[in-house]
Amino acid sequence: MSKLSTGIHLFILFLDGAGGSVVANRLTKCPSTRILLIEAGSSDFDNLNTEVPSFAPRLTGSQFDWNFTTLPQPGLHGRSIDYAQGFVLGGSTAINVMAYCRGSKDDYDRWAWVTDDEGWSWNSLQPYIHKIENLSPPADNHSIIDEIDVLIHGSGGPVSFSLPGQLLPTDEHAINAPSELSTEFPFNLDYNSGDTIGLGPVLLHKNNGWLNIVQIAKGQRVTSAAAYLIPAMSRPNLDIIVNSQVTKILQTGTKDGQPVFSAIQFYTVGEPEIYTINASKEIIISAGAIKTPQLLMLSGIGEKDYLSTLGIDVLVDVLDVGQNLQDHPLTTISWTVNSTNTLDNIRTNKTLAAQPLQQWNATHTGGLTLGPGNQLAWLRLPNNATIFKNNTDPSAGNRSAHYEFIVTDSFVSFSQPFPSAGNFFTMFSNLVSPSSCGNISLNSTDPFAHPLIQPNILQTEFDIFTMHEAIKAARRFMRAKSWSDWIIEETSPSSEAQTDEEIEEYIKNTCFTVNHVTCTVPMGKNGQARRGGGALNPDLSVKGTVGLRVVDASAFPFIPAAHTQVPTYILSERASDIMQEVYNCE
Ligand SMILES: Cc1cc2nc3c(=O)[nH]c(=O)nc-3n(C[C@H](O)[C@H](O)[C@H](O)COP(=O)(O)OP(=O)(O)OC[C@H]3O[C@@H](n4cnc5c(N)ncnc54)[C@H](O)[C@@H]3O)c2cc1C
Ligand SMILES: *[C@@H]1O[C@H](CO)[C@@H](O)[C@H](O)[C@H]1NC(C)=O
Ligand SMILES: *[C@@H]1O[C@H](CO)[C@@H](O)[C@H](O)[C@H]1NC(C)=O
Ligand SMILES: *[C@@H]1O[C@H](CO)[C@@H](O)[C@H](O)[C@H]1NC(C)=O
Ligand SMILES: *[C@@H]1O[C@H](CO)[C@@H](O)[C@H](O)[C@H]1NC(C)=O
Ligand SMILES: *[C@@H]1O[C@H](CO)[C@@H](O)[C@H](O)[C@H]1NC(C)=O
Ligand SMILES: *[C@@H]1O[C@H](CO)[C@@H](O)[C@H](O)[C@H]1NC(C)=O
Ligand SMILES: *[C@@H]1O[C@H](CO)[C@@H](O)[C@H](O)[C@H]1NC(C)=O
Ligand SMILES: *[C@@H]1O[C@H](CO)[C@@H](O)[C@H](O)[C@H]1NC(C)=O
Ligand SMILES: *[C@@H]1O[C@H](CO)[C@@H](O)[C@H](O)[C@H]1NC(C)=O
Ligand SMILES: *[C@@H]1O[C@H](CO)[C@@H](O)[C@H](O)[C@H]1NC(C)=O
Ligand SMILES: *[C@@H]1O[C@H](CO)[C@@H](O)[C@H](O)[C@H]1NC(C)=O
Repeated sequence: MSKLSTGIHLFILFLDGAGGSVVANRLTKCPSTRILLIEAGSSDFDNLNTEVPSFAPRLTGSQFDWNFTTLPQPGLHGRSIDYAQGFVLGGSTAINVMAYCRGSKDDYDRWAWVTDDEGWSWNSLQPYIHKIENLSPPADNHSIIDEIDVLIHGSGGPVSFSLPGQLLPTDEHAINAPSELSTEFPFNLDYNSGDTIGLGPVLLHKNNGWLNIVQIAKGQRVTSAAAYLIPAMSRPNLDIIVNSQVTKILQTGTKDGQPVFSAIQFYTVGEPEIYTINASKEIIISAGAIKTPQLLMLSGIGEKDYLSTLGIDVLVDVLDVGQNLQDHPLTTISWTVNSTNTLDNIRTNKTLAAQPLQQWNATHTGGLTLGPGNQLAWLRLPNNATIFKNNTDPSAGNRSAHYEFIVTDSFVSFSQPFPSAGNFFTMFSNLVSPSSCGNISLNSTDPFAHPLIQPNILQTEFDIFTMHEAIKAARRFMRAKSWSDWIIEETSPSSEAQTDEEIEEYIKNTCFTVNHVTCTVPMGKNGQARRGGGALNPDLSVKGTVGLRVVDASAFPFIPAAHTQVPTYILSERASDIMQEVYNCE
């Protein structure tokens, strides 16, 4: 706490996150800025389990997870599901599965439309996208020139990413299948080009095609803490405190008739008193899509009608705080395979598991340098799908997917026990343009209590239909001849899910989340956003307030059809630029 004694002249103050790390780095480049970053979790982001890419599944439910749970989901037969969020410096980027996806041009152009700010369009965001990137060699240092469109990627940025650096036996089957089925599963060299749809190329003599682009470099996970905070840590104008939870944002005055928020309260583990600290410029909240709306509501910023019912003193009546939640549901299908060489072996045989760890520890190469799968693909329903007869398309446009495949060389399920033996192949089907929408509300005015999380997973006809179609498409894909000597038979769901009714039952019994909770404090222009017009202005300031900004995944007006870490980086890079302009930095 000693560093805090100099904190009186703080310029800006905020909480950490994928978003927070970006802002901390960019704004402390300006010497006249002073930043205090407060993180509820620990600083232990370089733990072995967070570093080794393949250990990602160990992190959910660990000391790095807030351990949230949803309310019972009506669309999932009343099941509640675990809802992971990172509780450590680097936030969820320290516990996620590292997929590197920018999203599509249409996703950002819709942000621009809904905020009436051309600055959020794909074309306008290009400088920020490039600024993030450092396309790097894979763990095995093979040439990736034919496996990704190197021309569209940046190389000098803080976020290193690459392609899988270890071949799996399934790769050759996976990369040959699309050419057989190219009408339904079209070609796409690089899903980060702005048009995400399709699968990569197939050059038979090379290890390439629809590869999963991963935030892994030198065989190690790249977190927002490693990418953005470590390079900034030696700067004298950045202070970081951990194990400290912000519990309230305080009004400190009024300016032009609007409340000014320039102080916060926080609690530090092991210390009895609640600290109050003032910012001379701004408070930036980057607490993620669950904690950010909770903190705003607890501070009296939100929908008056709702907050009054809880006895909260309403300081700012602003719509959409906690509303508009969007997320991506997933389901999996598994097959037994004609091989004894799959990643299942590492799970079931401890002796076998020791070898790749030894290799990783010695050289940062080998089987533990991989994400959840070596291939992923973005796909759309056909334009003539029956669902469009009476449902409008919730996707942002034809460059955005309705569903995603991720190929995995082992058994995976989020609802069934793992078999104690055997060798498997699993296809994830993720719904990435959902029309369902949920909310975050308060169970209690205690800041340490979890908020109520209602994602309303698979609540709409469109979402159920599309998940259905994604399962059917996965089955069609796996019937390609190139799989025939690998795949033996479908084991889950198998014969018990053949009719539409049975598939729907399977979906409701097994659906889980890709952990992309977003959009709970959305930006938007009055009258144009999807619901209450948005809680944030296009510059991410909270409507009706002075001195308060939200820079994290809660600020998305719509969820992109992509994994959400890179969209959070993109949003935060532009937010940093907006602030640098306001404060005459750079
Ligand atoms: C299991 C999992 C897998 C995922 N897989 C991928 C993937 O493969 N690819 C991808 O692109 N995205 C993935 N995501 C999503 C991605 O990680 C998030 O969208 C992104 O990190 C969101 O950034 P954020 O800044 O909004 O929040 P976060 O990164 O979660 O950061 C929020 C931070 O704020 C801290 N905090 C919260 N409340 C307080 C408080 N009151 N006081 C102080 N600190 C506080 C938290 O501890 C946390 O460190 C995954 C997420 C999870 C959970
Ligand atoms: C989440 O659960 C794990 C396992 O029980 C625990 O170690 C960890 O402390 C919990 N996280 C938080 C933030 O309490
Ligand atoms: C990786 O490959 C490049 C080009 O093939 C080579 O120049 C470089 O030295 C290699 N690096 C390592 C660490 O092997
Ligand atoms: C700091 O915040 C507190 C709490 O709102 C307020 O009472 C005080 O006046 C503020 N101090 C300054 C210097 O703004
Ligand atoms: C586990 O793997 C080791 C090393 O390959 C092998 O010798 C052993 O038989 C395996 N054990 C089982 C139970 O399969
Ligand atoms: C990694 O290697 C070092 C020494 O090279 C050793 O001390 C350490 O225990 C190893 N860690 C693991 C997880 O194998
Ligand atoms: C959609 O069009 C394709 C090809 O034009 C056709 O084969 C298919 O039957 C059509 N589907 C529906 C539901 O009309
Ligand atoms: C849409 O049409 C299908 C039949 O084609 C019907 O079952 C469904 O109820 C309709 N949904 C709506 C919202 O009208
Ligand atoms: C996609 O393209 C088709 C055909 O051009 C068009 O009818 C449809 O409206 C487009 N969908 C979206 C969401 O843009
Ligand atoms: C949240 O959503 C649920 C169900 O969708 C609804 O019943 C509840 O009133 C909503 N809560 C708030 C605060 O809007
Ligand atoms: C809401 O609070 C009550 C009372 O403290 C508690 O029993 C319940 O488990 C909480 N519900 C959730 C979903 O956290
Ligand atoms: C299993 O794979 C071997 C080659 O590794 C092949 O000879 C055999 O036909 C395959 N069996 C099945 C059932 O596909």
